[in-house]
Amino acid sequence: MAEISVDFNRPVVVGRELEYIQQAIDNGHISGDGPFTKKCHAFFEQELGVPKALLTTSCTHALEMSAILLEIQPGDEVVIPDFTFVSTVNAFVLRGAEPVFLDVRPDTLNLDESKLEALITPRTKAIVPVHYAGVGCEMDTIMEIARRRHIAVVEDNAHGLFGKYKGKYLGTFGSMASQSFHETKNFTSGEGGALLINDPALVERAEIIREKGTNRSRFFRGQVDKYTWVDIGSSYLPSDILAAFLLAQLEQREKIQRHRKQVWELYYAGLKDWANTHDVQLPFVPDGCEQSYHMFYLLMPNLELRQKLIAYLRERGVYSVFHYLPLHLSDMGQRFDGKIGDCPVTERASDQLIRLPFHNSLTSTEQEQVIDLLHEFPF
Ligand SMILES: Cc1ncc(COP(=O)(O)O)c(C=O)c1O
Repeated sequence: MAEISVDFNRPVVVGRELEYIQQAIDNGHISGDGPFTKKCHAFFEQELGVPKALLTTSCTHALEMSAILLEIQPGDEVVIPDFTFVSTVNAFVLRGAEPVFLDVRPDTLNLDESKLEALITPRTKAIVPVHYAGVGCEMDTIMEIARRRHIAVVEDNAHGLFGKYKGKYLGTFGSMASQSFHETKNFTSGEGGALLINDPALVERAEIIREKGTNRSRFFRGQVDKYTWVDIGSSYLPSDILAAFLLAQLEQREKIQRHRKQVWELYYAGLKDWANTHDVQLPFVPDGCEQSYHMFYLLMPNLELRQKLIAYLRERGVYSVFHYLPLHLSDMGQRFDGKIGDCPVTERASDQLIRLPFHNSLTSTEQEQVIDLLHEFPF
Protein backbone atom coordinates (compact mmCIF):
# COMPACT_ATOMS: atom_id res chain seq x y z
CA MET A 1 0.00 0.00 0.00
CA ALA A 2 1.28 3.51 -0.85
CA GLU A 3 2.50 5.46 2.13
CA ILE A 4 -0.08 7.94 3.35
CA SER A 5 0.77 11.60 3.91
CA VAL A 6 -2.09 14.00 4.44
CA ASP A 7 -1.35 17.50 5.71
CA PHE A 8 -3.77 19.25 7.99
CA ASN A 9 -3.28 22.44 6.00
CA ARG A 10 -1.29 23.28 2.88
CA PRO A 11 -1.21 26.83 1.47
CA VAL A 12 -1.46 26.91 -2.32
CA VAL A 13 -1.44 29.37 -5.17
CA VAL A 14 -4.91 29.24 -6.72
CA GLY A 15 -4.71 31.94 -9.40
CA ARG A 16 -2.67 35.03 -10.26
CA GLU A 17 -0.94 35.53 -6.87
CA LEU A 18 2.65 35.59 -8.18
CA GLU A 19 1.80 37.75 -11.19
CA TYR A 20 0.02 40.26 -8.93
CA ILE A 21 2.96 40.42 -6.51
CA GLN A 22 5.23 41.24 -9.44
CA GLN A 23 2.73 43.89 -10.53
CA ALA A 24 2.73 45.40 -7.04
CA ILE A 25 6.51 45.75 -7.27
CA ASP A 26 6.28 47.16 -10.79
CA ASN A 27 3.69 49.65 -9.54
CA GLY A 28 6.37 51.04 -7.25
CA HIS A 29 4.00 50.74 -4.30
CA ILE A 30 4.47 47.87 -1.87
CA SER A 31 3.60 49.67 1.36
CA GLY A 32 0.00 49.82 2.56
CA ASP A 33 -3.09 51.14 0.77
CA GLY A 34 -1.73 50.69 -2.74
CA PRO A 35 -3.79 49.65 -5.80
CA PHE A 36 -4.22 46.02 -4.67
CA THR A 37 -5.41 46.99 -1.21
CA LYS A 38 -7.97 49.30 -2.82
CA LYS A 39 -9.15 46.47 -5.09
CA CYS A 40 -9.58 44.18 -2.07
CA HIS A 41 -11.59 46.88 -0.29
CA ALA A 42 -13.80 47.34 -3.35
CA PHE A 43 -14.25 43.57 -3.66
CA PHE A 44 -15.58 43.23 -0.11
CA GLU A 45 -17.72 46.35 -0.34
CA GLN A 46 -19.33 45.14 -3.57
CA GLU A 47 -19.64 41.44 -2.81
CA LEU A 48 -20.81 41.74 0.79
CA GLY A 49 -22.55 45.08 0.45
CA VAL A 50 -20.72 46.58 3.45
CA PRO A 51 -20.28 50.37 3.57
CA LYS A 52 -16.54 50.07 4.25
CA ALA A 53 -13.91 47.34 4.36
CA LEU A 54 -10.35 47.96 5.53
CA LEU A 55 -7.60 45.38 5.18
CA THR A 56 -5.62 44.85 8.37
CA THR A 57 -2.51 42.91 9.28
CA SER A 58 -4.62 40.25 11.04
CA CYS A 59 -8.04 39.45 12.40
CA THR A 60 -6.54 40.12 15.82
CA HIS A 61 -5.74 43.67 14.74
CA ALA A 62 -9.19 44.18 13.25
CA LEU A 63 -10.63 43.19 16.64
CA GLU A 64 -8.24 45.58 18.40
CA MET A 65 -9.41 48.36 16.11
CA SER A 66 -13.03 47.56 16.91
CA ALA A 67 -12.30 47.80 20.65
CA ILE A 68 -10.73 51.24 20.19
CA LEU A 69 -13.63 52.34 17.98
CA LEU A 70 -16.15 51.30 20.64
CA GLU A 71 -14.13 53.28 23.19
CA ILE A 72 -13.84 50.31 25.49
CA GLN A 73 -12.65 51.54 28.90
CA PRO A 74 -11.39 49.82 32.04
CA GLY A 75 -14.37 48.39 33.87
CA ASP A 76 -16.49 47.78 30.76
CA GLU A 77 -17.71 44.23 30.24
CA VAL A 78 -17.60 42.37 26.96
CA VAL A 79 -19.53 39.14 26.43
CA ILE A 80 -17.66 36.58 24.34
CA PRO A 81 -18.13 32.87 23.70
CA ASP A 82 -15.85 30.77 25.89
CA PHE A 83 -15.00 28.53 22.94
CA THR A 84 -12.96 30.83 20.71
CA PHE A 85 -9.46 31.98 19.88
CA VAL A 86 -7.61 34.16 22.39
CA SER A 87 -7.77 37.25 20.17
CA THR A 88 -11.57 37.51 20.40
CA VAL A 89 -11.19 38.39 24.06
CA ASN A 90 -7.66 39.75 24.24
CA ALA A 91 -8.42 42.63 21.88
CA PHE A 92 -10.94 43.97 24.43
CA VAL A 93 -8.92 43.11 27.54
CA LEU A 94 -6.08 45.21 26.04
CA ARG A 95 -8.37 48.23 26.38
CA GLY A 96 -9.17 47.33 30.00
CA ALA A 97 -12.41 45.38 29.51
CA GLU A 98 -13.47 42.52 31.75
CA PRO A 99 -14.44 39.47 29.73
CA VAL A 100 -17.69 37.68 30.50
CA PHE A 101 -17.44 34.12 29.22
CA LEU A 102 -20.62 32.74 27.71
CA ASP A 103 -20.94 29.01 27.14
CA VAL A 104 -21.67 27.64 23.68
CA ARG A 105 -24.50 25.58 22.22
CA PRO A 106 -23.79 21.86 22.09
CA ASP A 107 -24.97 21.58 18.47
CA THR A 108 -23.12 24.39 16.64
CA LEU A 109 -20.56 25.40 19.30
CA ASN A 110 -21.67 28.99 18.76
CA LEU A 111 -22.46 31.17 21.74
CA ASP A 112 -25.63 30.04 23.49
CA GLU A 113 -28.00 32.89 22.79
CA SER A 114 -30.51 31.53 25.33
CA LYS A 115 -28.01 32.34 28.11
CA LEU A 116 -26.91 35.71 26.74
CA GLU A 117 -29.35 38.11 28.35
CA ALA A 118 -28.70 36.81 31.86
CA LEU A 119 -25.05 37.88 31.56
CA ILE A 120 -25.76 41.45 30.53
CA THR A 121 -25.23 44.17 33.13
CA PRO A 122 -25.24 47.98 32.98
CA ARG A 123 -21.48 47.71 32.29
CA THR A 124 -21.83 45.49 29.19
CA LYS A 125 -20.37 47.41 26.26
CA ALA A 126 -20.15 44.78 23.54
CA ILE A 127 -21.18 41.27 22.51
CA VAL A 128 -18.73 39.44 20.24
CA PRO A 129 -20.33 36.45 18.53
CA VAL A 130 -17.97 34.06 16.73
CA HIS A 131 -19.44 32.13 13.81
CA TYR A 132 -17.65 28.91 14.65
CA ALA A 133 -16.56 26.91 11.60
CA GLY A 134 -18.37 29.51 9.50
CA VAL A 135 -21.85 28.45 10.69
CA GLY A 136 -23.87 31.51 11.67
CA CYS A 137 -24.80 32.28 15.28
CA GLU A 138 -28.48 32.93 16.05
CA MET A 139 -28.19 36.54 14.91
CA ASP A 140 -31.92 37.39 15.17
CA THR A 141 -31.90 36.76 18.91
CA ILE A 142 -28.46 38.29 19.49
CA MET A 143 -29.26 41.47 17.56
CA GLU A 144 -32.66 41.83 19.23
CA ILE A 145 -31.08 41.68 22.70
CA ALA A 146 -28.24 44.01 21.67
CA ARG A 147 -30.64 46.60 20.23
CA ARG A 148 -32.97 46.49 23.20
CA ARG A 149 -30.11 46.78 25.70
CA HIS A 150 -28.13 49.32 23.59
CA ILE A 151 -25.03 47.16 23.30
CA ALA A 152 -22.68 47.04 20.31
CA VAL A 153 -22.15 43.79 18.40
CA VAL A 154 -18.79 42.98 16.80
CA GLU A 155 -18.86 39.75 14.80
CA ASP A 156 -15.65 37.76 14.90
CA ASN A 157 -16.06 36.31 11.44
CA ALA A 158 -12.56 34.81 11.19
CA HIS A 159 -14.08 31.56 9.88
CA GLY A 160 -17.18 32.75 8.12
CA LEU A 161 -16.38 34.77 5.01
CA PHE A 162 -19.23 34.24 2.46
CA GLY A 163 -21.30 32.24 4.96
CA LYS A 164 -24.88 33.46 5.40
CA TYR A 165 -27.52 33.59 8.11
CA LYS A 166 -31.09 33.78 6.77
CA GLY A 167 -29.80 34.93 3.39
CA LYS A 168 -27.58 37.73 4.74
CA TYR A 169 -23.79 37.54 4.77
CA LEU A 170 -22.07 36.86 8.08
CA GLY A 171 -20.11 39.95 9.02
CA THR A 172 -22.92 42.32 8.01
CA PHE A 173 -25.00 42.17 11.21
CA GLY A 174 -22.89 43.89 13.88
CA SER A 175 -21.64 47.48 13.75
CA MET A 176 -18.31 45.87 12.79
CA ALA A 177 -16.89 42.46 11.90
CA SER A 178 -13.41 41.02 11.71
CA GLN A 179 -12.07 38.66 9.03
CA SER A 180 -8.92 36.53 9.02
CA PHE A 181 -6.67 35.66 6.09
CA HIS A 182 -4.27 33.55 8.13
CA GLU A 183 -2.88 30.61 6.18
CA THR A 184 -5.46 28.15 7.53
CA LYS A 185 -8.42 30.20 6.28
CA ASN A 186 -10.42 29.67 3.06
CA PHE A 187 -8.76 32.77 1.55
CA THR A 188 -5.31 33.71 2.69
CA SER A 189 -2.40 36.10 2.44
CA GLY A 190 -0.32 34.14 4.94
CA GLU A 191 -1.17 36.55 7.71
CA GLY A 192 -3.89 39.13 7.23
CA GLY A 193 -7.32 40.34 8.15
CA ALA A 194 -10.01 42.91 7.51
CA LEU A 195 -12.35 45.09 9.47
CA LEU A 196 -15.81 45.31 7.92
CA ILE A 197 -17.57 48.47 9.07
CA ASN A 198 -21.34 48.42 8.86
CA ASP A 199 -21.91 51.61 10.83
CA PRO A 200 -20.82 54.48 8.54
CA ALA A 201 -20.31 56.74 11.58
CA LEU A 202 -17.23 54.68 12.48
CA VAL A 203 -15.46 54.83 9.11
CA GLU A 204 -13.46 58.04 9.39
CA ARG A 205 -12.07 57.21 12.84
CA ALA A 206 -11.27 53.67 11.71
CA GLU A 207 -9.07 55.05 8.93
CA ILE A 208 -7.24 57.21 11.45
CA ILE A 209 -6.71 54.40 13.98
CA ARG A 210 -5.40 52.13 11.22
CA GLU A 211 -2.89 54.80 10.13
CA LYS A 212 -1.06 55.30 13.45
CA GLY A 213 -3.59 57.85 14.73
CA THR A 214 -3.02 60.20 11.81
CA ASN A 215 -5.35 61.66 9.17
CA ARG A 216 -3.07 60.36 6.42
CA SER A 217 -5.97 58.77 4.47
CA ARG A 218 -7.68 62.16 4.22
CA PHE A 219 -4.37 63.67 3.11
CA PHE A 220 -3.98 61.09 0.32
CA ARG A 221 -7.52 61.85 -0.83
CA GLY A 222 -6.62 65.55 -0.97
CA GLN A 223 -9.08 66.43 1.80
CA VAL A 224 -6.41 68.07 3.98
CA ASP A 225 -3.11 69.63 2.89
CA LYS A 226 -0.93 67.94 5.52
CA TYR A 227 -1.38 65.04 7.86
CA THR A 228 -0.75 64.91 11.55
CA TRP A 229 -1.41 63.04 14.82
CA VAL A 230 -5.14 63.37 15.56
CA ASP A 231 -6.09 60.32 17.69
CA ILE A 232 -4.69 57.12 19.18
CA GLY A 233 -3.89 54.36 16.70
CA SER A 234 -1.33 51.92 15.46
CA SER A 235 0.02 50.47 12.22
CA TYR A 236 -2.73 48.12 11.18
CA LEU A 237 -2.40 48.23 7.38
CA PRO A 238 -0.76 45.40 5.44
CA SER A 239 1.74 45.71 2.60
CA ASP A 240 0.28 45.86 -0.91
CA ILE A 241 2.25 42.66 -1.62
CA LEU A 242 -0.05 40.81 0.77
CA ALA A 243 -3.09 42.49 -0.73
CA ALA A 244 -1.89 41.37 -4.19
CA PHE A 245 -1.74 37.76 -2.98
CA LEU A 246 -5.14 38.08 -1.31
CA LEU A 247 -6.87 39.63 -4.32
CA ALA A 248 -5.76 36.71 -6.48
CA GLN A 249 -7.31 34.33 -3.94
CA LEU A 250 -10.53 36.32 -3.72
CA GLU A 251 -10.86 36.25 -7.50
CA GLN A 252 -11.04 32.45 -7.21
CA ARG A 253 -13.95 32.65 -4.79
CA GLU A 254 -16.23 30.33 -6.77
CA LYS A 255 -13.56 27.71 -7.37
CA ILE A 256 -12.34 27.72 -3.76
CA GLN A 257 -15.80 27.57 -2.24
CA ARG A 258 -16.97 24.87 -4.67
CA HIS A 259 -13.98 22.71 -3.77
CA ARG A 260 -14.40 23.24 -0.02
CA LYS A 261 -18.08 22.34 -0.24
CA GLN A 262 -17.12 19.08 -1.95
CA VAL A 263 -14.52 18.34 0.73
CA TRP A 264 -17.03 18.96 3.52
CA GLU A 265 -19.74 16.89 1.86
CA LEU A 266 -17.42 13.98 1.14
CA TYR A 267 -16.36 13.82 4.80
CA TYR A 268 -19.97 14.08 5.93
CA ALA A 269 -21.25 11.35 3.61
CA GLY A 270 -18.30 9.08 4.38
CA LEU A 271 -18.58 9.45 8.15
CA LYS A 272 -22.31 9.81 8.90
CA ASP A 273 -23.08 6.16 9.62
CA TRP A 274 -19.73 5.53 11.29
CA ALA A 275 -20.35 8.50 13.59
CA ASN A 276 -23.83 7.25 14.52
CA THR A 277 -22.50 3.83 15.38
CA HIS A 278 -19.68 5.13 17.57
CA ASP A 279 -21.37 8.02 19.36
CA VAL A 280 -19.31 10.59 17.46
CA GLN A 281 -20.95 13.97 16.82
CA LEU A 282 -20.58 15.60 13.40
CA PRO A 283 -20.97 19.34 12.66
CA PHE A 284 -24.52 20.67 12.62
CA VAL A 285 -25.76 23.41 10.29
CA PRO A 286 -29.14 24.81 11.35
CA ASP A 287 -31.84 25.62 8.79
CA GLY A 288 -31.30 29.12 7.48
CA CYS A 289 -27.50 28.92 7.76
CA GLU A 290 -25.34 28.65 4.66
CA GLN A 291 -21.95 27.74 6.04
CA SER A 292 -18.61 28.93 4.66
CA TYR A 293 -17.12 25.40 4.58
CA HIS A 294 -14.20 26.46 6.72
CA MET A 295 -13.55 23.23 8.63
CA PHE A 296 -14.69 19.70 9.34
CA TYR A 297 -14.61 18.49 12.91
CA LEU A 298 -15.65 15.47 14.93
CA LEU A 299 -16.68 15.44 18.59
CA MET A 300 -15.35 12.16 19.96
CA PRO A 301 -17.09 10.53 22.94
CA ASN A 302 -14.34 11.64 25.36
CA LEU A 303 -10.85 13.14 25.72
CA GLU A 304 -9.10 9.79 25.86
CA LEU A 305 -10.55 8.67 22.52
CA ARG A 306 -9.85 12.07 20.96
CA GLN A 307 -6.18 11.90 21.97
CA LYS A 308 -5.96 8.30 20.84
CA LEU A 309 -7.44 9.21 17.46
CA ILE A 310 -5.01 12.10 16.87
CA ALA A 311 -2.07 9.80 17.68
CA TYR A 312 -3.52 6.95 15.58
CA LEU A 313 -3.90 9.19 12.52
CA ARG A 314 -0.49 10.77 13.04
CA GLU A 315 1.21 7.35 13.15
CA ARG A 316 -0.41 6.66 9.79
CA GLY A 317 0.67 9.96 8.18
CA VAL A 318 -2.54 11.97 8.68
CA TYR A 319 -2.32 15.25 10.55
CA SER A 320 -5.36 16.26 12.55
CA VAL A 321 -5.55 18.82 15.36
CA PHE A 322 -7.64 19.77 18.37
CA HIS A 323 -8.94 23.31 18.72
CA TYR A 324 -9.58 25.94 21.39
CA LEU A 325 -9.01 25.40 25.09
CA PRO A 326 -11.72 26.87 27.34
CA LEU A 327 -10.82 30.54 27.78
CA HIS A 328 -12.23 30.75 31.31
CA LEU A 329 -9.75 28.08 32.47
CA SER A 330 -6.69 29.64 30.81
CA ASP A 331 -4.19 31.47 33.06
CA MET A 332 -5.75 34.75 32.02
CA GLY A 333 -9.29 33.42 32.30
CA GLN A 334 -8.65 32.41 35.90
CA ARG A 335 -7.52 35.95 36.67
CA PHE A 336 -11.07 36.90 35.70
CA ASP A 337 -12.48 34.29 38.11
CA GLY A 338 -12.93 31.45 35.62
CA LYS A 339 -13.59 28.13 37.37
CA ILE A 340 -14.09 24.54 36.31
CA GLY A 341 -17.76 23.97 35.57
CA ASP A 342 -18.53 27.58 34.54
CA CYS A 343 -18.93 26.64 30.86
CA PRO A 344 -19.55 22.88 30.75
CA VAL A 345 -20.35 22.63 27.03
CA THR A 346 -17.08 24.37 26.11
CA GLU A 347 -15.13 22.23 28.58
CA ARG A 348 -16.53 19.10 26.96
CA ALA A 349 -16.19 20.25 23.34
CA SER A 350 -12.62 21.35 23.94
CA ASP A 351 -11.74 17.84 25.15
CA GLN A 352 -13.61 16.03 22.42
CA LEU A 353 -13.09 18.03 19.25
CA ILE A 354 -10.73 16.99 16.46
CA ARG A 355 -10.34 18.84 13.16
CA LEU A 356 -9.69 16.75 10.07
CA PRO A 357 -7.35 17.82 7.24
CA PHE A 358 -9.12 20.55 5.25
CA HIS A 359 -7.52 22.84 2.69
CA ASN A 360 -7.78 24.14 -0.85
CA SER A 361 -5.73 21.40 -2.46
CA LEU A 362 -6.99 18.40 -0.48
CA THR A 363 -7.82 15.64 -2.93
CA SER A 364 -10.67 13.14 -2.75
CA THR A 365 -8.04 10.37 -2.68
CA GLU A 366 -6.50 11.89 0.43
CA GLN A 367 -9.92 12.25 1.97
CA GLU A 368 -10.79 8.62 1.21
CA GLN A 369 -7.58 7.60 3.00
CA VAL A 370 -8.61 9.61 6.05
CA ILE A 371 -12.15 8.21 5.99
CA ASP A 372 -10.88 4.63 5.61
CA LEU A 373 -8.52 5.08 8.56
CA LEU A 374 -11.36 6.42 10.69
CA HIS A 375 -13.48 3.38 9.81
CA GLU A 376 -10.63 1.15 11.00
CA PHE A 377 -10.03 3.09 14.24
CA PRO A 378 -10.26 0.72 17.21
CA PHE A 379 -12.62 2.39 19.71
C1 LIG B 1 -12.32 32.91 15.91
C2 LIG B 1 -10.98 33.52 15.65
N1 LIG B 1 -10.81 34.82 15.85
C3 LIG B 1 -9.62 35.43 15.62
C4 LIG B 1 -8.54 34.70 15.17
C5 LIG B 1 -7.23 35.42 14.93
O1 LIG B 1 -6.95 35.51 13.57
P1 LIG B 1 -5.56 36.11 13.06
O2 LIG B 1 -4.56 35.03 13.14
O3 LIG B 1 -5.85 36.56 11.65
O4 LIG B 1 -5.24 37.28 13.94
C6 LIG B 1 -8.66 33.34 14.95
C7 LIG B 1 -7.52 32.56 14.47
O5 LIG B 1 -7.60 31.56 13.85
C8 LIG B 1 -9.91 32.72 15.20
O6 LIG B 1 -10.09 31.39 15.03
